[in-house]
Amino acid sequence: MVTIEKVHAIEILDSRGNPTLMTRVTLSDGSVGVAKVPSGASTGVNEAVELRDGGSRYGGKGVLKAVKNVNTALFEAVRGIDPTDLRAVDRALLAADPSKGKGRLGANAILSVSMAAAVAAATHLGLPLFEYLRTSVLDKPAKYLQPVPMSNVINGGAHAGNDLAIQEFMILPVGASDIREAIRCLSEVYHVLGKNMIEKYGRMAKHVGDEGGYCGFGLRSTRDALDEIVRAISDAGYSPGDDVVLGIDAAASGFHKNGTYTIDGQEMSAGELLDFYIDLEKTYPLKTVEDPFDETAFDDFAEYVRKTKVQVVTDDLTVSNPDIVRRAVEMVAGTALLLKVNQIGTVTEAIDAAGIANAAEWGVVVSHRSGETGDTFIADLAVALGCGQIKTGAPARSDRVEKYNRLLEIYDILSGDCGYPGHDFRTAWRNY
Ligand code: PGA
Ligand code: ZN
Repeated sequence: MVTIEKVHAIEILDSRGNPTLMTRVTLSDGSVGVAKVPSGASTGVNEAVELRDGGSRYGGKGVLKAVKNVNTALFEAVRGIDPTDLRAVDRALLAADPSKGKGRLGANAILSVSMAAAVAAATHLGLPLFEYLRTSVLDKPAKYLQPVPMSNVINGGAHAGNDLAIQEFMILPVGASDIREAIRCLSEVYHVLGKNMIEKYGRMAKHVGDEGGYCGFGLRSTRDALDEIVRAISDAGYSPGDDVVLGIDAAASGFHKNGTYTIDGQEMSAGELLDFYIDLEKTYPLKTVEDPFDETAFDDFAEYVRKTKVQVVTDDLTVSNPDIVRRAVEMVAGTALLLKVNQIGTVTEAIDAAGIANAAEWGVVVSHRSGETGDTFIADLAVALGCGQIKTGAPARSDRVEKYNRLLEIYDILSGDCGYPGHDFRTAWRNY
Protein backbone atom coordinates (compact mmCIF):
# COMPACT_ATOMS: atom_id res chain seq x y z
CA MET A 1 0.00 0.00 0.00
CA VAL A 2 1.18 3.51 -0.81
CA THR A 3 0.74 6.20 1.84
CA ILE A 4 1.14 9.95 2.29
CA GLU A 5 4.60 10.52 3.73
CA LYS A 6 5.10 14.28 3.49
CA VAL A 7 2.94 17.37 2.97
CA HIS A 8 4.62 20.71 2.45
CA ALA A 9 3.17 24.10 1.47
CA ILE A 10 4.75 27.41 0.51
CA GLU A 11 3.33 30.87 -0.13
CA ILE A 12 3.24 31.80 -3.85
CA LEU A 13 1.42 34.44 -5.95
CA ASP A 14 -1.80 34.22 -7.95
CA SER A 15 -2.59 36.00 -11.24
CA ARG A 16 -3.52 39.22 -9.41
CA GLY A 17 -0.22 39.18 -7.55
CA ASN A 18 -1.87 38.17 -4.27
CA PRO A 19 -0.51 35.38 -2.08
CA THR A 20 -1.88 31.85 -2.34
CA LEU A 21 -0.68 28.34 -1.49
CA MET A 22 1.31 25.78 -3.43
CA THR A 23 1.28 22.41 -1.71
CA ARG A 24 3.37 19.31 -2.44
CA VAL A 25 2.26 15.86 -1.31
CA THR A 26 4.93 13.14 -1.38
CA LEU A 27 4.00 9.45 -1.13
CA SER A 28 5.89 6.52 0.36
CA ASP A 29 6.94 5.36 -3.14
CA GLY A 30 8.32 8.82 -3.98
CA SER A 31 5.36 9.89 -6.14
CA VAL A 32 4.70 13.62 -5.90
CA GLY A 33 1.58 15.74 -6.43
CA VAL A 34 1.56 19.55 -6.52
CA ALA A 35 -1.44 21.88 -6.41
CA LYS A 36 -1.92 25.66 -6.42
CA VAL A 37 -5.06 27.27 -5.03
CA PRO A 38 -7.19 29.89 -6.86
CA SER A 39 -9.02 32.85 -5.29
CA GLY A 40 -12.21 34.77 -6.17
CA ALA A 41 -13.01 38.51 -6.20
CA SER A 42 -16.81 38.38 -6.45
CA THR A 43 -17.07 35.77 -3.72
CA GLY A 44 -20.39 34.40 -2.46
CA VAL A 45 -21.23 35.05 1.21
CA ASN A 46 -21.62 31.31 1.88
CA GLU A 47 -18.29 30.28 0.37
CA ALA A 48 -15.77 28.33 2.40
CA VAL A 49 -13.37 30.67 4.17
CA GLU A 50 -9.96 31.64 2.79
CA LEU A 51 -7.59 32.04 5.72
CA ARG A 52 -5.58 35.28 5.31
CA ASP A 53 -3.01 36.59 7.77
CA GLY A 54 -4.20 40.19 8.16
CA GLY A 55 -1.66 42.80 9.32
CA SER A 56 0.50 44.79 6.94
CA ARG A 57 2.32 42.06 5.03
CA TYR A 58 0.92 41.82 1.47
CA GLY A 59 -1.80 44.27 2.54
CA GLY A 60 -3.16 41.66 4.95
CA LYS A 61 -3.50 39.01 2.24
CA GLY A 62 -0.57 36.80 3.27
CA VAL A 63 -1.27 33.08 3.73
CA LEU A 64 1.52 32.10 6.12
CA LYS A 65 -1.00 30.89 8.74
CA ALA A 66 -2.64 28.65 6.12
CA VAL A 67 0.82 27.43 5.04
CA LYS A 68 1.64 26.58 8.65
CA ASN A 69 -1.67 24.74 9.02
CA VAL A 70 -0.83 22.59 5.99
CA ASN A 71 2.65 21.85 7.26
CA THR A 72 1.48 20.92 10.77
CA ALA A 73 -2.17 20.04 11.53
CA LEU A 74 -3.20 18.95 8.04
CA PHE A 75 0.00 17.00 7.45
CA GLU A 76 -0.60 15.12 10.72
CA ALA A 77 -4.24 14.51 9.70
CA VAL A 78 -3.43 12.79 6.39
CA ARG A 79 -0.07 11.23 7.18
CA GLY A 80 -0.15 7.45 6.55
CA ILE A 81 -3.41 7.53 4.53
CA ASP A 82 -3.55 5.77 1.15
CA PRO A 83 -4.28 8.70 -1.25
CA THR A 84 -5.70 6.44 -3.95
CA ASP A 85 -8.78 6.56 -1.69
CA LEU A 86 -9.35 10.30 -2.08
CA ARG A 87 -12.52 10.15 0.03
CA ALA A 88 -10.43 8.90 2.97
CA VAL A 89 -8.04 11.84 2.52
CA ASP A 90 -10.90 14.34 2.41
CA ARG A 91 -12.61 12.74 5.43
CA ALA A 92 -9.40 13.21 7.42
CA LEU A 93 -9.13 16.83 6.27
CA LEU A 94 -12.74 17.55 7.26
CA ALA A 95 -12.23 15.91 10.65
CA ALA A 96 -9.19 18.13 11.24
CA ASP A 97 -11.37 21.24 10.76
CA PRO A 98 -15.07 20.64 11.38
CA SER A 99 -15.69 24.42 11.73
CA LYS A 100 -18.32 26.08 9.52
CA GLY A 101 -16.75 27.07 6.21
CA LYS A 102 -13.43 25.44 7.18
CA GLY A 103 -12.40 28.79 8.63
CA ARG A 104 -10.23 27.49 11.46
CA LEU A 105 -7.47 25.90 9.35
CA GLY A 106 -8.59 27.62 6.13
CA ALA A 107 -10.41 26.23 3.09
CA ASN A 108 -7.45 27.37 0.98
CA ALA A 109 -5.11 25.22 3.12
CA ILE A 110 -7.46 22.21 3.09
CA LEU A 111 -8.13 22.37 -0.65
CA SER A 112 -4.44 22.49 -1.47
CA VAL A 113 -3.91 19.15 0.29
CA SER A 114 -7.01 17.55 -1.24
CA MET A 115 -5.95 18.53 -4.78
CA ALA A 116 -2.27 17.67 -4.33
CA ALA A 117 -3.18 14.26 -2.84
CA ALA A 118 -5.32 13.52 -5.94
CA VAL A 119 -2.44 14.49 -8.24
CA ALA A 120 0.00 12.34 -6.22
CA ALA A 121 -2.37 9.35 -6.35
CA ALA A 122 -2.71 9.68 -10.13
CA THR A 123 1.08 9.86 -10.45
CA HIS A 124 1.49 6.75 -8.29
CA LEU A 125 -1.04 4.85 -10.40
CA GLY A 126 0.59 6.05 -13.62
CA LEU A 127 -2.69 7.60 -14.77
CA PRO A 128 -3.49 11.05 -16.17
CA LEU A 129 -5.35 13.01 -13.47
CA PHE A 130 -8.67 12.97 -15.38
CA GLU A 131 -8.47 9.19 -15.72
CA TYR A 132 -7.71 8.72 -12.01
CA LEU A 133 -10.63 10.97 -11.02
CA ARG A 134 -12.98 9.30 -13.49
CA THR A 135 -12.23 5.67 -12.73
CA SER A 136 -10.95 5.67 -9.13
CA VAL A 137 -12.93 8.47 -7.48
CA LEU A 138 -16.08 8.69 -9.61
CA ASP A 139 -16.15 4.98 -10.54
CA LYS A 140 -17.30 5.76 -14.08
CA PRO A 141 -16.35 3.83 -17.22
CA ALA A 142 -13.55 5.20 -19.39
CA LYS A 143 -15.65 7.27 -21.81
CA TYR A 144 -14.79 10.88 -22.35
CA LEU A 145 -16.55 14.14 -23.10
CA GLN A 146 -14.59 17.33 -23.62
CA PRO A 147 -16.23 20.53 -22.34
CA VAL A 148 -17.55 23.41 -24.43
CA PRO A 149 -15.55 26.44 -23.23
CA MET A 150 -17.49 29.48 -22.01
CA SER A 151 -14.84 32.07 -22.73
CA ASN A 152 -15.04 35.48 -21.10
CA VAL A 153 -13.93 37.92 -23.81
CA ILE A 154 -15.14 41.19 -22.23
CA ASN A 155 -14.69 41.69 -18.48
CA GLY A 156 -16.86 43.97 -16.32
CA GLY A 157 -18.20 44.18 -12.78
CA ALA A 158 -15.63 43.35 -10.09
CA HIS A 159 -13.12 42.17 -12.72
CA ALA A 160 -12.52 45.40 -14.66
CA GLY A 161 -12.52 49.17 -14.14
CA ASN A 162 -15.34 50.14 -16.51
CA ASP A 163 -19.05 51.03 -16.65
CA LEU A 164 -20.31 47.50 -17.33
CA ALA A 165 -22.41 46.05 -14.50
CA ILE A 166 -22.40 42.57 -16.02
CA GLN A 167 -19.21 40.82 -14.91
CA GLU A 168 -18.58 38.43 -17.82
CA PHE A 169 -19.47 38.45 -21.52
CA MET A 170 -18.74 35.00 -22.89
CA ILE A 171 -18.63 33.14 -26.20
CA LEU A 172 -19.32 29.41 -26.58
CA PRO A 173 -17.93 27.80 -29.77
CA VAL A 174 -20.81 25.32 -30.17
CA GLY A 175 -20.34 24.76 -33.90
CA ALA A 176 -16.86 23.27 -33.50
CA SER A 177 -16.36 19.56 -34.11
CA ASP A 178 -13.81 19.09 -31.33
CA ILE A 179 -11.93 20.99 -28.63
CA ARG A 180 -9.08 21.92 -31.00
CA GLU A 181 -11.46 23.67 -33.40
CA ALA A 182 -13.31 25.18 -30.44
CA ILE A 183 -10.13 26.76 -29.06
CA ARG A 184 -9.10 27.98 -32.52
CA CYS A 185 -12.50 29.66 -32.84
CA LEU A 186 -12.11 31.33 -29.42
CA SER A 187 -8.70 32.68 -30.31
CA GLU A 188 -9.80 33.97 -33.73
CA VAL A 189 -12.89 35.73 -32.39
CA TYR A 190 -10.93 37.15 -29.43
CA HIS A 191 -8.33 38.72 -31.71
CA VAL A 192 -10.88 40.18 -34.13
CA LEU A 193 -12.81 41.59 -31.16
CA GLY A 194 -9.66 43.29 -29.88
CA LYS A 195 -8.83 44.74 -33.31
CA ASN A 196 -12.40 46.01 -33.81
CA MET A 197 -12.54 47.63 -30.38
CA ILE A 198 -9.17 49.35 -30.80
CA GLU A 199 -10.28 50.71 -34.20
CA LYS A 200 -13.51 52.02 -32.71
CA TYR A 201 -12.47 53.17 -29.24
CA GLY A 202 -8.71 53.67 -29.44
CA ARG A 203 -5.72 51.94 -27.88
CA MET A 204 -7.15 51.97 -24.33
CA ALA A 205 -9.50 49.21 -25.53
CA LYS A 206 -6.51 46.87 -25.76
CA HIS A 207 -6.34 46.56 -21.96
CA VAL A 208 -7.66 43.42 -20.32
CA GLY A 209 -9.44 42.59 -17.05
CA ASP A 210 -8.78 39.94 -14.40
CA GLU A 211 -9.86 37.00 -16.59
CA GLY A 212 -8.01 38.09 -19.74
CA GLY A 213 -11.09 39.49 -21.52
CA TYR A 214 -10.95 43.04 -22.88
CA CYS A 215 -11.56 45.74 -20.30
CA GLY A 216 -14.48 47.11 -22.30
CA PHE A 217 -13.07 50.62 -22.64
CA GLY A 218 -15.62 52.77 -24.50
CA LEU A 219 -18.51 50.37 -23.94
CA ARG A 220 -21.39 51.99 -22.09
CA SER A 221 -23.94 49.21 -21.74
CA THR A 222 -24.67 45.50 -21.81
CA ARG A 223 -25.97 45.81 -25.37
CA ASP A 224 -22.84 47.71 -26.50
CA ALA A 225 -20.73 44.74 -25.33
CA LEU A 226 -22.97 42.09 -26.90
CA ASP A 227 -23.10 44.04 -30.19
CA GLU A 228 -19.29 44.15 -30.38
CA ILE A 229 -19.06 40.42 -29.70
CA VAL A 230 -21.64 39.52 -32.36
CA ARG A 231 -19.79 41.75 -34.86
CA ALA A 232 -16.47 40.07 -34.01
CA ILE A 233 -17.95 36.58 -34.46
CA SER A 234 -19.15 37.53 -37.97
CA ASP A 235 -15.95 39.37 -38.87
CA ALA A 236 -13.94 36.30 -37.84
CA GLY A 237 -15.92 34.25 -40.38
CA TYR A 238 -18.27 32.46 -37.97
CA SER A 239 -22.04 32.53 -37.79
CA PRO A 240 -23.51 33.98 -34.54
CA GLY A 241 -26.09 31.53 -33.23
CA ASP A 242 -24.85 28.58 -35.31
CA ASP A 243 -21.09 28.47 -34.77
CA VAL A 244 -20.87 30.63 -31.66
CA VAL A 245 -23.48 31.46 -29.02
CA LEU A 246 -23.27 33.94 -26.15
CA GLY A 247 -23.33 33.73 -22.38
CA ILE A 248 -23.17 36.18 -19.51
CA ASP A 249 -22.29 35.96 -15.84
CA ALA A 250 -24.23 38.89 -14.41
CA ALA A 251 -22.79 38.28 -10.91
CA ALA A 252 -25.78 40.43 -9.96
CA SER A 253 -24.93 40.65 -6.25
CA GLY A 254 -22.28 43.13 -7.42
CA PHE A 255 -24.89 45.66 -8.65
CA HIS A 256 -27.66 44.89 -6.15
CA LYS A 257 -28.54 46.94 -3.08
CA ASN A 258 -31.70 46.83 -0.95
CA GLY A 259 -33.79 45.08 -3.60
CA THR A 260 -32.67 47.39 -6.45
CA TYR A 261 -30.33 46.53 -9.31
CA THR A 262 -28.33 49.38 -10.89
CA ILE A 263 -27.38 48.49 -14.46
CA ASP A 264 -26.75 50.49 -17.64
CA GLY A 265 -27.62 53.76 -15.88
CA GLN A 266 -31.01 52.46 -14.72
CA GLU A 267 -32.41 51.23 -11.42
CA MET A 268 -34.44 48.06 -11.78
CA SER A 269 -36.56 45.83 -9.58
CA ALA A 270 -36.03 42.06 -9.84
CA GLY A 271 -39.06 41.86 -12.15
CA GLU A 272 -37.68 44.58 -14.45
CA LEU A 273 -34.29 42.91 -14.51
CA LEU A 274 -35.94 39.63 -15.48
CA ASP A 275 -37.66 41.38 -18.41
CA PHE A 276 -34.29 42.94 -19.33
CA TYR A 277 -32.74 39.44 -19.63
CA ILE A 278 -35.70 38.11 -21.63
CA ASP A 279 -35.33 41.06 -24.03
CA LEU A 280 -31.62 40.27 -24.47
CA GLU A 281 -32.56 36.69 -25.40
CA LYS A 282 -34.81 38.05 -28.16
CA THR A 283 -32.03 40.17 -29.71
CA TYR A 284 -28.92 38.03 -29.26
CA PRO A 285 -28.06 34.31 -29.45
CA LEU A 286 -27.78 34.30 -25.66
CA LYS A 287 -27.89 30.74 -24.33
CA THR A 288 -26.56 30.80 -20.78
CA VAL A 289 -26.99 33.33 -17.94
CA GLU A 290 -25.19 32.98 -14.60
CA ASP A 291 -26.21 34.62 -11.31
CA PRO A 292 -28.96 36.81 -12.83
CA PHE A 293 -30.06 37.98 -9.36
CA ASP A 294 -28.62 38.58 -5.92
CA GLU A 295 -27.06 35.59 -4.18
CA THR A 296 -29.95 35.32 -1.69
CA ALA A 297 -32.78 35.63 -4.26
CA PHE A 298 -33.73 31.95 -4.69
CA ASP A 299 -37.31 32.89 -5.63
CA ASP A 300 -36.22 35.29 -8.38
CA PHE A 301 -33.90 32.65 -9.84
CA ALA A 302 -36.82 30.17 -9.84
CA GLU A 303 -39.11 32.69 -11.52
CA TYR A 304 -36.51 33.28 -14.22
CA VAL A 305 -36.17 29.52 -14.82
CA ARG A 306 -39.96 29.36 -15.35
CA LYS A 307 -39.87 32.21 -17.90
CA THR A 308 -36.68 31.65 -19.89
CA LYS A 309 -35.33 29.18 -22.42
CA VAL A 310 -31.66 29.84 -21.62
CA GLN A 311 -29.52 27.85 -19.21
CA VAL A 312 -29.66 29.46 -15.75
CA VAL A 313 -26.38 28.90 -13.90
CA THR A 314 -26.09 29.25 -10.12
CA ASP A 315 -22.72 30.34 -8.75
CA ASP A 316 -22.85 32.74 -5.79
CA LEU A 317 -26.32 31.32 -5.07
CA THR A 318 -25.06 27.76 -4.46
CA VAL A 319 -21.28 28.19 -3.85
CA SER A 320 -20.62 24.52 -4.79
CA ASN A 321 -22.00 23.52 -1.38
CA PRO A 322 -23.90 20.20 -1.49
CA ASP A 323 -26.45 21.38 1.13
CA ILE A 324 -27.20 24.64 -0.69
CA VAL A 325 -27.25 22.86 -4.07
CA ARG A 326 -29.93 20.53 -2.63
CA ARG A 327 -32.05 23.54 -1.68
CA ALA A 328 -31.62 25.19 -5.11
CA VAL A 329 -32.47 21.94 -6.86
CA GLU A 330 -35.65 21.51 -4.80
CA MET A 331 -36.73 25.06 -5.67
CA VAL A 332 -35.67 24.68 -9.33
CA ALA A 333 -33.70 27.89 -8.88
CA GLY A 334 -31.44 27.07 -11.84
CA THR A 335 -30.73 24.56 -14.57
CA ALA A 336 -26.94 24.30 -14.16
CA LEU A 337 -24.47 24.45 -11.31
CA LEU A 338 -21.22 26.41 -11.46
CA LEU A 339 -18.61 24.25 -9.76
CA LYS A 340 -15.58 25.90 -8.12
CA VAL A 341 -13.55 23.56 -5.94
CA ASN A 342 -12.32 26.37 -3.69
CA GLN A 343 -15.87 27.46 -2.83
CA ILE A 344 -16.30 24.25 -0.84
CA GLY A 345 -12.72 23.21 -0.02
CA THR A 346 -12.26 19.54 -0.93
CA VAL A 347 -12.27 17.73 -4.28
CA THR A 348 -14.77 15.05 -3.25
CA GLU A 349 -17.29 17.54 -1.81
CA ALA A 350 -17.17 19.40 -5.14
CA ILE A 351 -17.72 16.12 -6.97
CA ASP A 352 -20.69 15.40 -4.67
CA ALA A 353 -22.19 18.82 -5.46
CA ALA A 354 -21.93 17.98 -9.17
CA GLY A 355 -23.60 14.61 -8.52
CA ILE A 356 -26.56 16.26 -6.77
CA ALA A 357 -26.97 18.69 -9.67
CA ASN A 358 -26.83 15.96 -12.31
CA ALA A 359 -29.26 13.76 -10.34
CA ALA A 360 -31.77 16.60 -10.69
CA GLU A 361 -31.04 16.80 -14.44
CA TRP A 362 -29.09 20.04 -14.00
CA GLY A 363 -26.00 20.73 -16.07
CA VAL A 364 -22.61 21.36 -14.44
CA VAL A 365 -20.00 23.97 -15.44
CA VAL A 366 -16.53 23.48 -13.96
CA SER A 367 -15.04 26.92 -13.30
CA HIS A 368 -11.84 28.83 -12.61
CA ARG A 369 -11.67 31.84 -10.25
CA SER A 370 -10.77 35.37 -11.25
CA GLY A 371 -7.54 34.95 -9.25
CA GLU A 372 -5.82 31.92 -10.80
CA THR A 373 -2.45 30.22 -11.15
CA GLY A 374 -0.97 27.95 -13.79
CA ASP A 375 -2.62 24.96 -12.08
CA THR A 376 -4.69 22.94 -14.58
CA PHE A 377 -6.63 20.69 -12.18
CA ILE A 378 -10.00 22.02 -13.39
CA ALA A 379 -9.37 20.95 -16.99
CA ASP A 380 -8.92 17.36 -15.79
CA LEU A 381 -11.91 17.66 -13.47
CA ALA A 382 -14.17 18.81 -16.32
CA VAL A 383 -13.15 15.83 -18.45
CA ALA A 384 -13.42 13.45 -15.47
CA LEU A 385 -16.96 14.59 -14.68
CA GLY A 386 -17.88 14.53 -18.38
CA CYS A 387 -19.97 17.61 -17.56
CA GLY A 388 -19.57 19.15 -21.02
CA GLN A 389 -18.93 22.76 -19.92
CA ILE A 390 -15.94 24.71 -18.58
CA LYS A 391 -15.55 28.38 -17.73
CA THR A 392 -11.90 29.37 -17.73
CA GLY A 393 -11.58 32.89 -19.07
CA ALA A 394 -10.29 34.47 -22.25
CA PRO A 395 -7.97 32.58 -24.61
CA ALA A 396 -5.16 34.85 -23.37
CA ARG A 397 -2.84 35.15 -20.32
CA SER A 398 -1.14 32.00 -19.10
CA ASP A 399 -3.34 31.70 -15.98
CA ARG A 400 -6.31 31.12 -18.35
CA VAL A 401 -4.53 29.60 -21.35
CA GLU A 402 -2.89 26.79 -19.39
CA LYS A 403 -6.34 25.24 -18.85
CA TYR A 404 -7.07 25.38 -22.58
CA ASN A 405 -3.63 23.92 -23.29
CA ARG A 406 -4.33 21.07 -20.87
CA LEU A 407 -7.61 20.32 -22.69
CA LEU A 408 -5.62 20.15 -25.94
CA GLU A 409 -3.14 17.81 -24.27
CA ILE A 410 -5.97 15.61 -22.97
CA TYR A 411 -7.40 15.46 -26.51
CA ASP A 412 -4.00 14.23 -27.67
CA ILE A 413 -3.66 11.70 -24.80
CA LEU A 414 -7.05 10.29 -25.83
CA SER A 415 -6.04 10.30 -29.53
CA GLY A 416 -9.17 12.34 -30.19
CA ASP A 417 -11.41 9.54 -28.87
CA CYS A 418 -13.71 11.86 -26.93
CA GLY A 419 -17.01 13.62 -27.54
CA TYR A 420 -17.62 17.36 -27.91
CA PRO A 421 -21.13 18.51 -26.94
CA GLY A 422 -21.58 21.48 -29.32
CA HIS A 423 -25.13 22.87 -29.01
CA ASP A 424 -26.00 20.15 -26.45
CA PHE A 425 -23.59 21.61 -23.88
CA ARG A 426 -26.17 21.49 -21.08
CA THR A 427 -27.35 17.92 -21.54
CA ALA A 428 -24.60 15.94 -23.33
CA TRP A 429 -23.30 14.70 -19.94
CA ARG A 430 -26.25 12.29 -19.78
CA ASN A 431 -24.49 10.00 -22.27
CA TYR A 432 -21.15 10.06 -20.44
P1 PGA B 1 -14.74 35.22 -8.95
O1 PGA B 1 -15.54 35.35 -10.31
O2 PGA B 1 -13.73 34.15 -9.08
O3 PGA B 1 -14.16 36.60 -8.77
O4 PGA B 1 -15.77 34.90 -7.88
C1 PGA B 1 -15.88 34.27 -11.12
C2 PGA B 1 -17.36 34.07 -11.23
O5 PGA B 1 -18.15 34.83 -10.63
O6 PGA B 1 -17.81 33.13 -11.87
ZN1 ZN C 1 -20.05 33.77 -11.33
